[in-house]
Amino acid sequence: MNIAIVIGIKTDSISEDRYPQWLQDIPQSLINKSKEYWGDGEYGLASDVGVAYYVQKFSKHKVTLLTKKDIQRTKFNQFDVIIGLYDPYYLTNDTNDPKSYSYYNRLIQTSKATFLQPLSLQRFVLNKELYINKLKKHHVPVIEHISFPIRENMNSKTMLQKINKQCSKWGTQFFITKPQPGGFGTGFKKWDITKVLSNTNKFSSYIHKVKQEVRIEKPLLLIQRFVPEFETFYEVRTYWMNGSYSHSIGTIIDPTSLGTSGFEEVRFAYPENEYDTKEFQTYDEIPEKIDQSLITKLKKIGKQVIQLLPKDPTGVPFLLRIDFGCCLDNKHVCRDYFVNEIEYVPNLFPEYATHVDVLQIVGKAIIHKIKQLK
Ligand SMILES: Nc1ncnc2c1ncn2[C@@H]1O[C@H](COP(=O)(O)OP(=O)(O)O)[C@@H](O)[C@H]1O
Ligand SMILES: [Mg+2]
Repeated sequence: MNIAIVIGIKTDSISEDRYPQWLQDIPQSLINKSKEYWGDGEYGLASDVGVAYYVQKFSKHKVTLLTKKDIQRTKFNQFDVIIGLYDPYYLTNDTNDPKSYSYYNRLIQTSKATFLQPLSLQRFVLNKELYINKLKKHHVPVIEHISFPIRENMNSKTMLQKINKQCSKWGTQFFITKPQPGGFGTGFKKWDITKVLSNTNKFSSYIHKVKQEVRIEKPLLLIQRFVPEFETFYEVRTYWMNGSYSHSIGTIIDPTSLGTSGFEEVRFAYPENEYDTKEFQTYDEIPEKIDQSLITKLKKIGKQVIQLLPKDPTGVPFLLRIDFGCCLDNKHVCRDYFVNEIEYVPNLFPEYATHVDVLQIVGKAIIHKIKQLK
């Protein structure tokens, strides 16, 4: 079998100090294909090239690494299986052009290679409203939202009337807006309904910006009540390899660093059973523990979510991240966690997921998946 892996995300990186043993001999020429600038002349190795190097080193098949320039028909047709760690969504983000999204997708559909992750999964995950509604229908906990199609004639005044009504129903003064699929710059924003109604300028200019973003799949502006617990309690990112639970990381993102272009400020926490004290002593801040009984509950919900993914001939995804948000008043005990998001080529946080060898885990999951495809 002839395997290719498309790389080039240039983010989600790991510093050389934290390389696992098997990664230490990675050639500079490979690093250069996907590295992230950290400032001060320093670079981190992007997670996609780390994973790809693992597969290349340990798979019994020939594994070729492709980059942006190789996303073309003649190239794709040379392979039996293509793993798109750099996927249509990343490409569109880079080019800022919706045409590259349809171009890459068409290539996936028409090439003779099996492409992973499957398009059906991509489409599902990029339509947050669609999967949130599906999860809700199957009694998976999610939080409510309303949505507005992103189009030229969006009217911020009528939108605000609807949002105001909804905020009263939710009993909240604060709401958040996030464009779907998001990731093109104008992201998440928190609003105070009273202030917005008394002066609509900021909201209008936000809508103006949202309209100018690249639109792919089903462009929507999602509105949710502001969940203050995101700022104080851990969002638990659970990782699943070929349908089985692998590990988790809790994160609290400093809200002032959200929706801006720079690095997000993040605090991390880890499940009790996965907690590696020795490893975490090397961190800038000693991370907290996440109660194991919470993880047990989230694993149950996660399994349900996996059942609800679109069925694909290639089977369950080799990698999936299910993020759970919290609406509790207790940081360590589980009550009302909900599914906030699903990701199919998620950030792995290799710099902060050193309690497991996350690049190896994903590499192994890919090797396992390739075996199953035969
Ligand atoms: N309803 C909400 N209330 C408060 N904060 C939120 C809410 N939804 C999302 N956030 C914050 O914004 C971050 C990004 O939102 P998320 O839904 O994960 O979208 P994405 O990761 O695609 O940008 C979350 O990790 C969380 O910190
Ligand atoms: Mg997220």
